[in-house]
Amino acid sequence: MREPQNPLLLSIFIIAIFSYTFTHADDSSIMAEFSQAISPTPSTWKAGTNPCNGWSGVRCDSSSRVTSIDLSSQSLQGSLPTDLNQLTNLQTLALQRNHFSGPLPSFANLSNLQQLFLDSNNFTSVPASCFSGLTTLQALSLSLNINLSPWVFPQDLIQSEGLVNLSASNVNMMGSLPDIFGKFLSLQSVRLSYNNLTGVLPSSFNGTGVQNLWLNNQMSGLSGGLDLLGTMAQLSQVWLQKNSFTGPIPDLSKCVNLFDLQLRDNQLTGMVPPSLMSMLQLRNVSLDNNNLQGPYPEFGNGVTVTIGTINNFCNPKPGPCDPQVTTLLDIAGAMGYPMNLAQSWPGNDACHGWTFITCDSQGKNVTVINFSKQHFVGTISPAYGDLASLRNLLLNDNNLTGSIPDGLIALPQLQVLDVSNNNLTGKIPSFPPKVNVKTSGNLLLGSGTPAGGGTGNGGKSSSGSTGNSSGGSSGRQSGGMNPGVIAGTVIGVLVFIAIVLMVSYKYYTRKQPKKFGRVPIPPPSGKEEASNNGSTSGGINGFGGVGLLVYEYMPKGTLSQHLFEWGERGTSPLTWKQRVTIALDVARGVEYLHSLAQSSFIHRDLKPSNILLGDDMRAKVADFGLVKNAPDGKFSVETRLAGTFGYLAPEYAVTGRVTTKVDVYAFGVVLMEIITGRPALDETAPEERSHLVTWFRRFIVSNNDVRKVIDPTLEADDETFENISKVIELAGHCTSREPSQRPDMGHAVNVLGPLVEQWKPSDGVDDDIGINLQLSLPQALQRWQANEGTSTMDFGGTMTFGNTQSSIPPTKMDTFGSTGR
Ligand SMILES: *[C@@H]1O[C@H](CO)[C@@H](O)[C@H](O)[C@H]1NC(C)=O
Ligand SMILES: *[C@@H]1O[C@H](CO)[C@@H](O)[C@H](O)[C@H]1NC(C)=O
Ligand SMILES: *[C@@H]1O[C@H](CO)[C@@H](O)[C@H](O)[C@H]1NC(C)=O
Ligand SMILES: *[C@@H]1O[C@H](CO)[C@@H](O)[C@H](O)[C@H]1NC(C)=O
Ligand SMILES: *[C@@H]1O[C@H](CO)[C@@H](O)[C@H](O)[C@H]1NC(C)=O
Ligand SMILES: *[C@@H]1O[C@H](CO)[C@@H](O)[C@H](O)[C@H]1NC(C)=O
Ligand SMILES: *[C@@H]1O[C@H](CO)[C@@H](O)[C@H](O)[C@H]1NC(C)=O
Ligand SMILES: *[C@@H]1O[C@H](CO)[C@@H](O)[C@H](O)[C@H]1NC(C)=O
Ligand SMILES: *[C@@H]1O[C@H](CO)[C@@H](O)[C@H](O)[C@H]1NC(C)=O
Ligand SMILES: *[C@@H]1O[C@H](CO)[C@@H](O)[C@H](O)[C@H]1NC(C)=O
Ligand SMILES: *[C@@H]1O[C@H](CO)[C@@H](O)[C@H](O)[C@H]1NC(C)=O
Repeated sequence: MREPQNPLLLSIFIIAIFSYTFTHADDSSIMAEFSQAISPTPSTWKAGTNPCNGWSGVRCDSSSRVTSIDLSSQSLQGSLPTDLNQLTNLQTLALQRNHFSGPLPSFANLSNLQQLFLDSNNFTSVPASCFSGLTTLQALSLSLNINLSPWVFPQDLIQSEGLVNLSASNVNMMGSLPDIFGKFLSLQSVRLSYNNLTGVLPSSFNGTGVQNLWLNNQMSGLSGGLDLLGTMAQLSQVWLQKNSFTGPIPDLSKCVNLFDLQLRDNQLTGMVPPSLMSMLQLRNVSLDNNNLQGPYPEFGNGVTVTIGTINNFCNPKPGPCDPQVTTLLDIAGAMGYPMNLAQSWPGNDACHGWTFITCDSQGKNVTVINFSKQHFVGTISPAYGDLASLRNLLLNDNNLTGSIPDGLIALPQLQVLDVSNNNLTGKIPSFPPKVNVKTSGNLLLGSGTPAGGGTGNGGKSSSGSTGNSSGGSSGRQSGGMNPGVIAGTVIGVLVFIAIVLMVSYKYYTRKQPKKFGRVPIPPPSGKEEASNNGSTSGGINGFGGVGLLVYEYMPKGTLSQHLFEWGERGTSPLTWKQRVTIALDVARGVEYLHSLAQSSFIHRDLKPSNILLGDDMRAKVADFGLVKNAPDGKFSVETRLAGTFGYLAPEYAVTGRVTTKVDVYAFGVVLMEIITGRPALDETAPEERSHLVTWFRRFIVSNNDVRKVIDPTLEADDETFENISKVIELAGHCTSREPSQRPDMGHAVNVLGPLVEQWKPSDGVDDDIGINLQLSLPQALQRWQANEGTSTMDFGGTMTFGNTQSSIPPTKMDTFGSTGR
């Protein structure tokens, strides 16, 4: 070391350094540390020089304290010094868009810090209390640090009451949002997209002035309802897509500035509020992939909207819903539009496959609602009062609150009202004596009310004498009677009526043998089960004009809905197992029709829209409007052409001659539809594919890869593919051009049986196809027609056969295909 040459100079130098270090102790050393940590070091950040003097991006106050550091977008690397928070006068730290890595330093107690930009870097962790004591913070941006180890929302931000912009998307944030948002009186922007946040929207969002709310694309998804949005009047951009939010879209009419609302890919239910569709500022809306219900929404011209297919609107285009559907949606609405109702109440006909709902025999009016034990919350809607045919209303064992609406006492048909085991309050309205009212297990119900409202004497308490319904002409008893038994009884009665009518008809036609026209059958007066109105509902194609309509409740709708409309209906596509089971059910039903002793019946209109599915996805053949009696299956019968294009056997289409092989052909077409998921005729497809049979057979004949015909929604492993191949072969066989080359239905049953067997647990329950050979309707018809030769027989729009409850009288009709279990 060299000797100092001038002691005076040395001491001045030392004093200078000393005084410098004394006044700028923290900042200069921290800044020096900082400059060494980052690379490349900015050229102006020279070691040993005053950071307040020429360091680019650094600004200081009059006392030479650093107030602002801006190093954004400079491709810098390195990890930050841990004691950065000793720059206590710092107001702005802008390090965004670099390659900084390592743990974030603590920024705690930087009480002057207003802007902290750390986004688009490669930080690896957030220390505890990193953001505590930031009492003047207005903007925190941390987004796009995708390598941060999982962390939770920093509760400490609660001290930053002036926070305006919070941005932490793509930062591996997990857990739930703390309920602290009421603290941020100036909060405008909350951007926390692409994290793993869970839980609900904290209620402290209620009434805040947040404008931009980005919580979209959480891995597991935020959940719960969106009611709070309706209170956030400043909202302009709401991105909540890709979460697990449930319940209805709230009324957002207070949010007059809302222009962008992204709600797709959630589990929202209920109706799109009309107020949303008339919001003036709204420009972009996405609603797809939810379970929304009610009328199809219609937005103004300037709005970009995606609605998609996975929703459950009552119609595929704008327009009001059926009144009964509207009523039931009101009822669901009072319970917060539960998901299981949203998913199982498709379409615009409440009598067509809606769970928990039973309708009268004409499939028109709701008679039974059974919501028992569904964990439903909310209230009992007064809209129940609009269901004039309602007989049984079972709401027991839920968590319903509120009171029993007075309107229910006016329901003329009501026999049973069971609200036991809820949390209802208020008085019990005075129901007429014939109503069996069960109210036990509601601690607060009827309390303080005068006589008439006991609470809970063994589930039988009511407003008057109970239990003994008048019975009346129906002979039905109220109270614990199982709707299945009721249905069975109803069907039994219907069958009896049907047979009586047919015998009368026979008698009538005998007397006037020349008249083969359709004879109007008057409805038996006072019996709701029979109708003089052959019109049908639920898309089941009945015959026009006059007849008896017998309905069985087939809750899952038609095969065609499940094959071709599952997208719109929000159901999942059928599995191969379900399809092949359905095919077997149909084959058995048609085989049975064909193989009745002595003479044969020909369905003539076999197609997926005539195949109804029960709750267990077992099939029954419906619509016997065109059933034809063929006295001898070998001989063809000449008829006026009937049936449906796409399913007509060539010889039938050309000559009008019908044999059982016409049904075999149509069955083959149905098999093709089951295999391909395409309809028999598809006008929207390119010409070479529009006729299913032609296209399908071309594949078989040309030895092309038959995998290409299989419905893409079927994920066929080798075993399944082998199984499908056999059905492909059968479909080809059944649609042979020459009727003589087509197998009979017995063959189809023999082919399909083992394929179904392949999956069936060997419980052996299934083998009974539920045919009552004692007095089946076809047999009755057959006897009746013994002398009538080939007259066309029209006996109703839809005829499905008893659900094989054991209580059904011996006159029960036959199940085609499967039996109830
Ligand atoms: C911040 O200040 C508080 C109180 O002044 C103190 O208790 C705490 O230790 C400080 N935190 C840090 C990380 O310096
Ligand atoms: C981020 O850091 C990790 C290691 O911590 C490194 O493997 C990765 O390449 C870095 N990514 C970028 C974009 O710098
Ligand atoms: C908040 O963000 C908005 C929009 O990006 C911006 O205009 C505004 O200046 C920011 N406010 C603060 C305090 O950072
Ligand atoms: C998301 O968070 C949940 C717990 O909140 C956790 O179970 C899950 O593994 C996380 N997912 C990922 C991909 O980190
Ligand atoms: C929001 O807060 C108001 C006032 O406290 C309250 O009445 C309302 O029910 C709250 N709304 C929601 C959806 O929580
Ligand atoms: C609306 O969405 C379209 C297409 O997604 C986009 O181009 C447009 O910028 C959006 N408009 C607004 C106002 O967000
Ligand atoms: C079904 O309801 C309608 C409207 O309430 C009513 O006019 C009709 O008579 C009802 N039908 C039956 C069979 O109760
Ligand atoms: C009612 O709600 C409580 C608490 O949420 C729950 O424990 C209970 O099981 C619910 N009861 C029914 C019948 O759903
Ligand atoms: C019933 O409701 C009351 C208030 O309405 C509530 O305090 C109580 O917890 C509820 N009981 C159950 C079992 O949900
Ligand atoms: C029902 O009627 C029977 C006989 O008609 C009678 O013995 C019984 O007490 C009645 N029950 C009720 C609850 O009124
Ligand atoms: C109503 O539904 C419940 C649960 O699904 C069932 O257990 C009960 O038997 C049904 N009640 C009637 C009367 O059908």
